[in-house]
Amino acid sequence: MREIVYLNGEFVLQDEAKISPRDRGFIFADGVYEVAKYYNGKPFRYDDHLTRLKRSLAELSIDFNETDGLQAVFQNLLSKNNLEKTHAGVYIQISRGEYKRIHSFPENVKSTVYAYAFELPSSSEDLENGIKVITHEDIRWQRCDIKSVSLLPNTMLFNKAVEAEAGECVLIRNGMVTEATHSSVLGVKNGVVITRPLSNLILPGITRKVILEICVENNIPIEERLFSEKELYELDEIIIAGTGSEVTPAVQVNETVIGNKKSGEITRLIQKEFFKLV
Ligand SMILES: Cc1ncc(COP(=O)(O)O)c(C=O)c1O
Repeated sequence: MREIVYLNGEFVLQDEAKISPRDRGFIFADGVYEVAKYYNGKPFRYDDHLTRLKRSLAELSIDFNETDGLQAVFQNLLSKNNLEKTHAGVYIQISRGEYKRIHSFPENVKSTVYAYAFELPSSSEDLENGIKVITHEDIRWQRCDIKSVSLLPNTMLFNKAVEAEAGECVLIRNGMVTEATHSSVLGVKNGVVITRPLSNLILPGITRKVILEICVENNIPIEERLFSEKELYELDEIIIAGTGSEVTPAVQVNETVIGNKKSGEITRLIQKEFFKLV
């Protein structure tokens, strides 16, 4: 079946979707995106994704106020692509739109809106056995809280993980863990779940938020604080969290084994509670 995507108000075949080379998304990476997951046609934490999308748009002063209609667009993408009875992701990108190349933000430009749906099964192998991660200096900009399409550093850093046959790259800024290239990072030490507090240096991850809620409900103590790369190697458990990775244990950091190379007790509990919610 040929893929049907959404572009600027219309559902079209993927290879017939066209945008202008003057689009500021193409020229400047001047745009934002979201990825939400649908479990058997049902969205998970849709409102959180919508809120984050609106915030990203506002932070960049991109004038797009048709977010109310997006849920219907996503449901249509699922049905038109036969993805209602499986686990699927929906990607949406909103760029500032087409204009001549100037550095300032032009006014009265119509945003470009592109969305598509894709199969997004859970990786049961990774969820069960865990993954290896590498570390690297966080070379990204200072506004990682905006879900911007400007992802070149993330792709460079993730590519390093792939080259090292690892599943993610954990980022280190000034000796401290920030997050990973497309996931949040949480640790467990002596029964306490540790994660970096929200700031301009990390994305406010929705899976991270869900995990912290699960901890509160299950009386698992939380410490939202900075932790160093050195501490990372000494953690009992590490969780790589994201819409795609869900609650994946990391069982090796570079050459150091974590928790006897097995998923830990708290990670398993959080996984169990997480999959009850979806
Ligand atoms: C840099 C970064 N951090 C964290 C996350 C996890 O966020 P979420 O749980 O909302 O998918 C992502 C997801 O794409 C990401 O790109």
